[in-house]
Amino acid sequence: MAQNILITGAAGYVGGSVLAEFISRTKSPIKAANLHAAVRTEEQVKALSKLGVNVIQLDLSDEASVITAVLQNEIDIAIHTASSADSSLSSITTLFSEDGGWTYGEVKDSDPIYEKDKQIGRSHPARATNLLVIEQAKELGVTSFIVPVPPTYGRGTGEWRKLSVNIPAYVRVSIANKVVYKFDRNGSPPALHISDLVTIYALIVEKILQKEPIPSGEEGYYFAAVHRAPWWEIMQLLADGLYARGLVKEPKVQVWPSYDEAADQLGLPRLYVRAIGTSSGDLVPVHPYQLGWKPQWDQKRFLESMDDEIQAVLDLDTVKPTLFDSL
Ligand SMILES: NC(=O)c1ccc[n+]([C@@H]2O[C@H](COP(=O)([O-])OP(=O)(O)OC[C@H]3O[C@@H](n4cnc5c(N)ncnc54)[C@H](OP(=O)(O)O)[C@@H]3O)[C@@H](O)[C@H]2O)c1
Repeated sequence: MAQNILITGAAGYVGGSVLAEFISRTKSPIKAANLHAAVRTEEQVKALSKLGVNVIQLDLSDEASVITAVLQNEIDIAIHTASSADSSLSSITTLFSEDGGWTYGEVKDSDPIYEKDKQIGRSHPARATNLLVIEQAKELGVTSFIVPVPPTYGRGTGEWRKLSVNIPAYVRVSIANKVVYKFDRNGSPPALHISDLVTIYALIVEKILQKEPIPSGEEGYYFAAVHRAPWWEIMQLLADGLYARGLVKEPKVQVWPSYDEAADQLGLPRLYVRAIGTSSGDLVPVHPYQLGWKPQWDQKRFLESMDDEIQAVLDLDTVKPTLFDSL
């Protein structure tokens, strides 16, 4: 019988791109599955309905409606990419940096992360959520996978929101201030292009559909990291590109007057802005490569694409991001 796959956040940058990737996989076992796309508004239902998938209007904070949607549509596999109601959860990769409480240094997704996370405790909301997902899934007999997603760049391929969070926020704020700011401490977190991220989800789902055993539950971490995003270099490239377009006063990068001001302007949570802006974290993906993952982007290509990151905001910035609205 055809499997039913639900993608939440399907109007979002990540979820929309995952959905587009799944639709494009015509020679994959995904082709035989029924795709269900959960979105929040009626406008989004209309926009996605031309894709030939079942579009469901669903408020994910309404537990009863979520249960009904899952049962009525006999959902076998759910990919949850909608943003959390708690915006601090979005700082997921800070989890593996010292700022986020991780004192073990370099971490492979094949390491006993679940055990270490339990030792660290549940003070970081993203860590608490990961533990909860693993534990609840186990209790309910559901197989779980966790894909920690670092800053993702590139134009999304979904029907609705096509811009990511971090770099577009820096571009917008720089244009508004007519100056590019950086943090007083450099950071170089893991990063990846949206097209390399969506293939991880596709590979996991393909293995599930083919009934191939892959790491799951307590071992089911899949680090979506390809290269680093050296923030100071990125800010300089943004300053060059924005100056060339006459959108900032000078091609020189200034230092943010304060972390709070940066947080407020960038729409990032004050509590986590320092970690988001300056931490690095040493994430080594092992599991995605075991599935046959072949990322197409690297750091050089990423840095060379900074001009398109600016152009994408100028071209596509019509849908307001809501990721951090809950603050
Ligand atoms: N983009 C990145 O670089 C990045 C990096 C690390 C982690 N992440 C995480 O990945 C997830 C997706 O990110 P994204 O960039 O795709 O964000 P996004 O473009 O804002 O997409 C999130 C989607 O979730 C929907 N949503 C939020 N709350 C909902 C609710 N209660 N009911 C129904 N739908 C709801 C939003 O609906 P509306 O369209 O109505 O707002 C939006 O379409 C987030 O959890 C984010 O923290 C993203």
